[in-house]
Amino acid sequence: MLEDLELKDTPIVILNFKTYLESTGERALELASICQDVADETGVNMAVAPQHMDLHLVSDAVEIPVLAQHIDAVDAGGHTGSILAECARDAGAAGTLINHSEKRMQLADIEWVISRMKELEMMSVVCTNNVMTTAAAAALGPDFVAVEPPELIGSGIPVSRAEPEVITGSVDAVKKVNPEVSVLCGAGISTGDDMKAAVDLGAEGVLLASGIILADSPRDALLDLVSKV
Ligand code: G3P
Repeated sequence: MLEDLELKDTPIVILNFKTYLESTGERALELASICQDVADETGVNMAVAPQHMDLHLVSDAVEIPVLAQHIDAVDAGGHTGSILAECARDAGAAGTLINHSEKRMQLADIEWVISRMKELEMMSVVCTNNVMTTAAAAALGPDFVAVEPPELIGSGIPVSRAEPEVITGSVDAVKKVNPEVSVLCGAGISTGDDMKAAVDLGAEGVLLASGIILADSPRDALLDLVSKV
C-alpha cells in the first residue's frame, strides 16, 4: 500500500509497461521480476504499471508496488468496459497513474480518482505535460505528480537534458502550491546519467517506459538507470 512507496533516502522509479508486446502477458511477469530483483539488489524504490489484464498476474508475483495505468471515475454499477477502483485494488494495485498523456482525462475526473484513491488508501500519480498543469494537479492533492513533455515521450531524448526547466519549474511550483506532493519526471529517460540529472534538478524519481522495456537487456538498463542515485 501507500507506505510501501514512501519516498525514503533513495528516489523512486516507476516503470510504465504501456502496451508494448515486450511487456505483455508472460513478458510482463518477466519484466516485473527483473524490477523486483533490481529493487532487492540496490534498495531503490521501484514500482511497475502493467496493463490491466496483467495486473493480478504481476501483483501475485512481486512484492514491489504494482500500479494501474488508468482508473475510470466511476462508482460500482452499470459502467461496461470501465475500470473500477475497487476492482484494481482487489487485483493487487497499490495505486494508479492518472491522466497519462496517452490516456488524458477531464479535470473533474482526475479529481474524482484522486479522492477515491485516498478513500481506498491507494497511491495517486497524476501525469502532467508542463509546469502549469503540474501546479494545477498539485492543487488537487495527489501523492505524486509526474511531469512529462509529450514531445519527448518515447524519443530517447531525456527531459532532464532537453527541458530541465520543466523539472525545476515544476518542483518550484509544487513547493508553492502543495509541498506535500512529490514531483517525478519522465519522457526519454533511459540511463543513470538521465536519472541523476533529474534528481539533481529536484525530482524525487522518474516515470519511464521504452528505455527499459525495449532495451537489449532490461536488467542491465535498469541497473544502469539506478547506478548513480
Ligand atoms: O509513463 C512514462 C512514459 O510516458 C515515458 O515514456 O518511453 O519516454 O520512457 P518513455
